[in-house]
Amino acid sequence: VHKLTVTNLGETFDAAEDETMLDALLRNGVRVRYGCRRGKCSSCKHLVVDGDYDNSAASAYALLEDEREAGMTLLCQSYPTSDCTVELLIAPGDEDGVRLPTPQRHDGRITEVIEESTQLLSIRLALSTPLRFLPGQYLELGSRGAEETRSYSIASAPMFVRRPQLLVHRRAGGWLSPATGAEAVDVRGPFGAMYLRPSGRRAVLVAWTEGVAPMASIARYLGMRPWSAPVTLLHGAAEAEELAYSAEFAAIAARTSGFEYLPVAGTERVMTLALNEAIAPGEDVDVYVAGPVGFCDRTLFILEARGIEPTHIYLERFYPAGAAT
Ligand SMILES: Cc1cc2nc3c(=O)[nH]c(=O)nc-3n(C[C@H](O)[C@H](O)[C@H](O)COP(=O)(O)OP(=O)(O)OC[C@H]3O[C@@H](n4cnc5c(N)ncnc54)[C@H](O)[C@@H]3O)c2cc1C
Ligand code: FES
Repeated sequence: VHKLTVTNLGETFDAAEDETMLDALLRNGVRVRYGCRRGKCSSCKHLVVDGDYDNSAASAYALLEDEREAGMTLLCQSYPTSDCTVELLIAPGDEDGVRLPTPQRHDGRITEVIEESTQLLSIRLALSTPLRFLPGQYLELGSRGAEETRSYSIASAPMFVRRPQLLVHRRAGGWLSPATGAEAVDVRGPFGAMYLRPSGRRAVLVAWTEGVAPMASIARYLGMRPWSAPVTLLHGAAEAEELAYSAEFAAIAARTSGFEYLPVAGTERVMTLALNEAIAPGEDVDVYVAGPVGFCDRTLFILEARGIEPTHIYLERFYPAGAAT
């Protein structure tokens, strides 16, 4: 066990050698900027001012050579090999007043698999211990005892602490297909920072196909609890049948004042037109985007070109598991 000191906090935590610096900080309830936990998004890039660590798994793409030489690292890919001192590059304070739940390990079983479309499966888990999460966060799942994991956003509302639902894109050769009933899984979480912020600004949720999973959690939450600002869900997919939970979202919109549902079946270009209609140029709005990496990157580009404040844009890019490139 090594000591991990965070200069901005003036606090020191224990970190095991087989634990990444990110996991050690999250385990200790530290609010730290991060995203994918797979060495792909670069969100967890912070400065190590002292100490030795192994970050050989961080790719040259996500952590540039000169950044590495300057002491920057990806905390999700860094294992301490001595006591270390870290400076978090965004002040770690509780800037939006939301306390992030500490990730836990849960024993789970897959209890139900529903085909929403030829591509999308709803999967229900039964957990041995309650899962506290914020709508929009994600889980990591693996077969019981296996090291390899997959990330899935939680689609159900946070009130259902023992039976979370996932929305999974079925992939050839993928881990969950063919999904078997009653399979034992290890579940870790919740993770992620794409949760609905109580900023008082209008929020627009933008999702493509399986990217609607975290938005489903948010929409279902809004269907049960009043929210302080209007929320629009812009939900796109190539075919109408791939707009999972569409009827349910429409029903929530019909009974929930301040919640608007805009389904779009068609090309991404049609989605862009709908996005430009949903958000005025330079509007003071929070935008949440989730789905395939290319879709998120293109949407970010459009939003920035539209003059949306970059710090009010929250992305959950659905990176594939596997080696970072
Ligand atoms: C934070 C986060 C949240 C996520 N949430 C969800 C979610 O809610 N629902 C969901 O379906 N996925 C989600 N993903 C993506 C999912 O974790 C990966 O796609 C995962 O690799 C799928 O595992 P698999 O076993 O089905 O396929 P794999 O065994 O990983 O891959 C099978 C084949 O499909 C290809 N492939 C796999 N995933 C992708 C992809 N995303 N894009 C392009 N090609 C791919 C692989 O290259 C391979 O050829 C999320 C990812 C992240 C990082
Ligand atoms: S959280 Fe470390 S690279 Fe994405």
